[in-house]
Amino acid sequence: MFIDSHTHIQMSQFDKDRRAVIRRAGKAGVEKILAIGIDYETSLAAAELADEYHNVYATVGVHPHNAESATRAELLDIPNLTQHPKVLAFGEMGLDYYRNHSTPKAQKKVFAEQLEMAADRGMPIVIHNREAYHDILPILEALDDGAFGVMHCFTGSVALMHRCLALENVYIGIGGIVTYPKAIDVHAVAREVPADRLLIETDCPWLAPQPWRGKRNEPAYVRAVAEKIAELRGTTVAEIGKITSENFAALFAPK
Ligand code: NI
Repeated sequence: MFIDSHTHIQMSQFDKDRRAVIRRAGKAGVEKILAIGIDYETSLAAAELADEYHNVYATVGVHPHNAESATRAELLDIPNLTQHPKVLAFGEMGLDYYRNHSTPKAQKKVFAEQLEMAADRGMPIVIHNREAYHDILPILEALDDGAFGVMHCFTGSVALMHRCLALENVYIGIGGIVTYPKAIDVHAVAREVPADRLLIETDCPWLAPQPWRGKRNEPAYVRAVAEKIAELRGTTVAEIGKITSENFAALFAPK
């Protein structure tokens, strides 16, 4: 059994066949799917999808790309969604200096506000980082109660992984990139990450693993991520499914 810890199945890319996609995931052994919000609308849609499907859970938050476009009212409404029993975390939130759809200043402000919301409610966080470790790590290291969450779609070096792991309750999310032949850093991280800190994800509809690379991704393909990690670690795919499902339960505590 597997858990896809990072998906966007509530988004329009799945409007035509969402039911079939979720069914295929179940057939592939994917027992739970976490639908991740990137703004108010997709956070609400994630919570609504969790109402509809027993195996879907949700997170709520504003992605750094949307830091500038999110209105004050939307940002202030997001915490209300956490009253929903299947909303498990805040995010995805963080910093993205690769695309810079929002200015770093706006990104940092909205990130800080959400970190506070999560801390107030004692909820874990889903962190998006792209080319921003130098700013994200000091922010997480300075949190009063320590960071409690996942570095989703981790693509950094083993050294950066160790800095993240020094934050005692931070997990490493590995996605489809690990199946790409040239992703040497991700291969190394997948080998080295301690078994009790690893999560698997698809980040669908993006970043499909080989052999679907370039096509729409979906939760069923998380199995390919688990298979590649098992191969890199010299273990079985069942073992990867087991440990990552236990880690998911430890971090997100789904009911
Ligand atoms: Ni994502």
